[in-house]
Amino acid sequence: MSEPKKLYIKTYGCQMNVYDSERMAEAMGGQGYVETKSPDDADMILLNTCHIREKAAEKVYSELGRFKGLKAEKPDLKIGVAGCVAQAEGQEIMRRQPLVDLVVGPQSYHRLPEMEAKTREGKKALDTDFPEEDKFEKLKNRPKAKRGPTAFLTVQEGCDKFCAFCVVPYTRGAEVSRPADRILHEARDLVERGVREITLLGQNVNAYHGAGPNGDMTLAGLIWELNKVDGLERIRFTTSHPNDMTDDLIEAHGTCDRLMPYLHLPVQSGSDRILKRMNRSHTADSYLRLIERIREARPDILMSGDFIVGFPEETDEDFKATLDLVEQVRYGYAYSFKYSTRPGTPAAERPQVDPEKADSRLQELQAVITRHQREIQDSMVGRKLRVLFEKPGRQSGQMVGKSEYLHAVHVSDASLKVGELRDVRVVSSGANSLAAELL
Ligand code: SAH
Ligand code: SF4
Ligand code: F3S
Repeated sequence: MSEPKKLYIKTYGCQMNVYDSERMAEAMGGQGYVETKSPDDADMILLNTCHIREKAAEKVYSELGRFKGLKAEKPDLKIGVAGCVAQAEGQEIMRRQPLVDLVVGPQSYHRLPEMEAKTREGKKALDTDFPEEDKFEKLKNRPKAKRGPTAFLTVQEGCDKFCAFCVVPYTRGAEVSRPADRILHEARDLVERGVREITLLGQNVNAYHGAGPNGDMTLAGLIWELNKVDGLERIRFTTSHPNDMTDDLIEAHGTCDRLMPYLHLPVQSGSDRILKRMNRSHTADSYLRLIERIREARPDILMSGDFIVGFPEETDEDFKATLDLVEQVRYGYAYSFKYSTRPGTPAAERPQVDPEKADSRLQELQAVITRHQREIQDSMVGRKLRVLFEKPGRQSGQMVGKSEYLHAVHVSDASLKVGELRDVRVVSSGANSLAAELL
């Protein structure tokens, strides 16, 4: 038998790209490819890219440049660009970097095998359509390989919100929800393969409204269905928009036992003036009231968020409002970014904030966020948590997993196995993780 061909995939950006990379690897598995961890022995290299900030997009070109030597040594090596940079820049990528053989946008991954075949004939292949057919359906012919205890499952794609800074509505297209029965089928399949925790994914996951048996189903409806899947112990979802936090979803956080007490709910800014200019269609106050309601339903819920500092025309006063909001919410995790101009988005044309000012605001915000994060993590010491163990730790006999609140927890106990869900008592809080002992 001939050696299988090797595929190296490097994934950038959000969890949806992680999910997509798995689907692409499976699709190419059908063409005789196995995955490799190194580009050096690959027959095909795929970069699954992100376009969200300028730095993310530019990384792709520097990475591609590094493959020049490899391609010179191995003329048969095929190099492909997938993901949001592929969608946004298309043909331009091949112009800028002639060693690229293939460019495929996120909605066309099911066409990857035929595209690869085309490159084997010495042609270039480009597909950045938004085709009518359902790529998830076409991609579902997968090997039943065993999996780790956690998995992502995309339930919704695209976005109709058009925040003034964001490329997602252009790179991922309009908001689309997958039918509930397909998602449930995929979830059951994942569980059969060893998965115990599923994170439902969507750029706007809580806007989910997929076809169910009695008309459209909400995200909460879908979560309740998943709650009945035997062997599935934990459900999470990300990313949510404040305007789509429906009553049934808030309620589910209080009543659905497998839904974890963690919610990523980006607000972007604490200033109403800036929120309006961002086209976010919520205010700081409506966001804070929403969190109050969520905490009424589930008092211990750990909040997570995203922030942009230095958005065009952001003043010191606007920034102060963001700091105030952060102090009120106290996030367990929060991600903050300096505004990055994205060509083609409405905010790109507006007066920019001095980059040094934006830098110092970012540092100030991150210091506050880190302080809260620290305090919340430290407050877990002495508490009983339930941990899903995911992999061996750095020291021998150690296992690492995640708590309900998504904190990394490590336990030294040689009897522990990957995939076990166990009660632990937290004994100390380290730099990025908690140490605990089994109960
Ligand atoms: N769908 C999600 C997240 C989309 S992208 C949501 O609606 O919140 C993830 C994060 O990247 C965003 O929440 C935002 O904080 C950040 N982001 C998006 N565009 C950006 C830009 N142009 N500059 C800096 N940060 C950006
Ligand atoms: Fe981007 Fe806004 Fe849509 Fe989130 S809601 S993906 S930030 S446009
Ligand atoms: Fe990036 Fe595309 Fe995700 S731009 S954040 S990879 S949707």
